[in-house]
Amino acid sequence: MKLAVLVSGSGTNLQAILDAEKRRELGGTVALVLSNVAGVKALERAAQAGVPTRVLSHREHASREAYDRALVGALREAKVELVALAGFMRIVTGTFLDAFPGQVVNIHPSLLPAFPGMHAQRQALAHGVRLTGCTVHFVDGGLDSGPILSQAAVPVLDGDDEARLTARILVEEHKLYPAALRAIAEGRVSVSGRRVIIRS
Ligand code: GRF
Repeated sequence: MKLAVLVSGSGTNLQAILDAEKRRELGGTVALVLSNVAGVKALERAAQAGVPTRVLSHREHASREAYDRALVGALREAKVELVALAGFMRIVTGTFLDAFPGQVVNIHPSLLPAFPGMHAQRQALAHGVRLTGCTVHFVDGGLDSGPILSQAAVPVLDGDDEARLTARILVEEHKLYPAALRAIAEGRVSVSGRRVIIRS
């Protein structure tokens, strides 16, 4: 299965996905890494792994729909069947989701439905929860609201700040995301309403 990974920044999740592919533990191939921002570390990581990259700047498109039409064009050109958002700092529209129904997934640094949106780790600290984590979910039209594929719990420790908590969650993200993508790529995932079933 051909995957695209959409990024905007450092790309540590992209790296975990590329490393899993190298170990033959992804069940598919990263055919394209697309960023909406030029010059980011994620693009370097892709180039290092020999994966085709593309920069599609949102600044060059008049509307979200126009941007998403260009995005769909780029993904179709690369013959992509699964799209993994990995720190892609854009809200996607129906234009994009309708073109790839049930084929777009995201990773979020909280145990959804708690703390959707920006700064999930900051939200967790502000709320005083003892347990947070990360979630891989299918993307629907809402904000971090689609059916949940997998989750990992991470403790919040006394004295944590945002950076320490973020780092602890990332360790789990890097295991959770490649495993979830592999399950999809191997055809082991089915969705029934909001429930996602993963066969082993
Ligand atoms: C991760 O925390 C991910 O959960 C969120 O954005 C961050 C991306 O980090 N959606 P990276 O670019 O993969 O290092």
